[in-house]
Amino acid sequence: MGQVYAVTSGKGGVGKSTVAVGLAFAFTKLNKRTLLVDMDEGLRCLDLMLGADKSAVFDLSDILMGRDMSDAVYEAENADGLYLVPAPSDIGKIDAFSFSAFARQAAEEYDTVIFDFPAGIDFTLYHCLPEDSLFLTVAVPDPVSVRDAAAVSRKLSDISCNSRLIINNFTYSLIKHGIFQNIDSMIDSAGLQLLGVVPHSEELMLLSVRHNIKPNGKPMAAFLRIAKRLCGEHILLPKPKKI
Ligand SMILES: Nc1ncnc2c1ncn2[C@@H]1O[C@H](COP(=O)(O)OP(=O)(O)OP(=O)(O)O)[C@@H](O)[C@H]1O
Ligand SMILES: [Mg+2]
Repeated sequence: MGQVYAVTSGKGGVGKSTVAVGLAFAFTKLNKRTLLVDMDEGLRCLDLMLGADKSAVFDLSDILMGRDMSDAVYEAENADGLYLVPAPSDIGKIDAFSFSAFARQAAEEYDTVIFDFPAGIDFTLYHCLPEDSLFLTVAVPDPVSVRDAAAVSRKLSDISCNSRLIINNFTYSLIKHGIFQNIDSMIDSAGLQLLGVVPHSEELMLLSVRHNIKPNGKPMAAFLRIAKRLCGEHILLPKPKKI
C-alpha cells in the first residue's frame, strides 16, 4: 500500500496547491510513483500547474461515477512518474462512499498519493481516506494563518487524524521584523510538529507557466527535505537565513 497525504489549511491562499505539487515533484525524485488528486471542486488548479490542462478530459467526478480510474489520470508534463486526477469542474460531485473506494484504489496503485484539499474546516471527506493517512497543514508566517492552522490541528486531532505543519512562503526578513521571534514560536502557536519550511520564491509563483521546479534551487531542496523526512530520514532544518 502506498502512503496517502492530505494537504490542508485553515486560511486560503497559503500555498497548499504549490506545496502539493512541489512535494509531488520531490517524491518522484525519490523514485516514488506519485498521484496528485485535486480536491478543489469548481476551482481546480493542479492541471495548470502540471501542464496537463490541455489533455484533461475526464476528472475525479467521472471516476466516482464509475469510469475506470486510468481514464482520468494524466501525466505531468515535466516529471516522470507524476500523475494527476483533476478536480470536478462542478461543485457537489464528490460522493463520500465512492470517494473512499477511489482513495483505497489509488493507495494500492501508487507509492504516494497526495490529496490537495480546499482551505477551511469542512472535514466531511477526511474520514474517507485510509486510516494511516497523514495530514499536512500549510501555514504562512502570518499570525492569522498560524492561528487558523492551530484551529485545523485541534479539529484534526478531535477526529483522530495525524497532522504535521509545513511553513510556506518563509523569508528570514519576517523574523527580523519581529512578526514571529523565530520558527519555534510559529510551531508553538500552531500546536503542530514541524515537517518543513518552504522559502518564498519567485520560481514557485511561476509554476502555472513553467510547470516545473529547478532541481537544484532552494525550493526543491526544501521539498526534498520534507519528502525525505516523510520517508523516515533524519534531515535537519537549515539555519533560517539559509532556507
Ligand atoms: N513559497 C512561495 N513563494 C512565492 N509564492 C508562493 C509560494 N507558495 C505559494 N505562492 C503563491 O501564492 C499563491 C497561492 O498559492 P496556492 O494556489 O498554492 O495556494 P492555496 O493554498 O492552494 O490556495 P487555495 O486556498 O485557493 O486553494 C499563488 O500565486 C502561488 O504562486
Ligand atoms: Mg489550492
